[in-house]
Amino acid sequence: MRKQITDFTIVEKQVFNETYFTLKLQHPGILPEIKAGQFVEVEVPGNKQVVLRRPISIHDVDTDNNTITLLIQVVGKGTKTLSNMKEGDTINMVYPLGHGFSLEGEKVLLVGGGAGIAPLLHLSKCLNLKGIHPVILLGGRTKSLIPIQKEFEPYGQVCFATEDGSLGEKGLVTQHSMFSRDYDHIYTCGPTPMMKAVARHALDKGIECEVSLENMMACGIGACLCCVVDSDQGHKCVCKEGPVFNAKQLTNWINNK
Ligand SMILES: Cc1cc2nc3c(=O)[nH]c(=O)nc-3n(C[C@H](O)[C@H](O)[C@H](O)COP(=O)(O)OP(=O)(O)OC[C@H]3O[C@@H](n4cnc5c(N)ncnc54)[C@H](O)[C@@H]3O)c2cc1C
Ligand code: FES
Repeated sequence: MRKQITDFTIVEKQVFNETYFTLKLQHPGILPEIKAGQFVEVEVPGNKQVVLRRPISIHDVDTDNNTITLLIQVVGKGTKTLSNMKEGDTINMVYPLGHGFSLEGEKVLLVGGGAGIAPLLHLSKCLNLKGIHPVILLGGRTKSLIPIQKEFEPYGQVCFATEDGSLGEKGLVTQHSMFSRDYDHIYTCGPTPMMKAVARHALDKGIECEVSLENMMACGIGACLCCVVDSDQGHKCVCKEGPVFNAKQLTNWINNK
């Protein structure tokens, strides 16, 4: 799929709390096919201190209405500027970028934490289209840091783990009672320590596991090498050769504390 560069219009903005918001963005024409796990590089308008585009996962896709939705966590200048944008504003994006998830498996577990929950909604929908209904395990420090909950319900069995016990079972996702069930495929996105723990478990149990990395990026197209991961086959650009990798390719990264 060729990359496109397009001005999208914000048609809906939802603010969940001080940290998380979603933007539903209208494509001016026909949206191309977007695979689960692919991302966009968003230009941040109106802030001269933010020169580089910011990589954001594609959270949801509506092909009937030619919209995509982004779920964004405010962490710094770029995401703060995006959080101040309004319905009717325009955002320029390069997309669809990277390689997505394989959509393989029968007994499938999705594990998401923090902003890493973002790509799992489109993934759940794409798995459903293949007749796969995953267990969807979402984690966060506390309930308000898991902004998207009900949206997942039509697509699988949704479970929660919070460190303070405010939603679902108390503890980390890897301590949840559904985590150690019998799966043949695990897909994960979230904080690095969480993904490493999930991937380590999968490798130990012989479960196929795909990890979506969120390394810092600049160009987003494989030109600047600032996003490389130390894979078992050498350095790989996360933006171009990922962001999704099979955990078997990442044993260096997984074991590197
Ligand atoms: C493929 C990919 C998909 C992503 N998808 C999403 C998404 O769907 N939703 C979302 O909210 N975020 C997502 N991110 C992370 C997002 O790109 C960063 O949070 C954002 O670029 C930060 O920009 P900023 O200007 O607000 O922060 P900056 O001012 O640039 O940085 C603020 C702080 O955030 C840290 N930071 C910056 N970028 C990252 C990063 N990539 N990973 C971890 N820490 C970072 C910096 O070290 C710094 O401490 C994704 C990242 C990648 C690589
Ligand atoms: S961000 Fe430039 S090579 Fe990946």
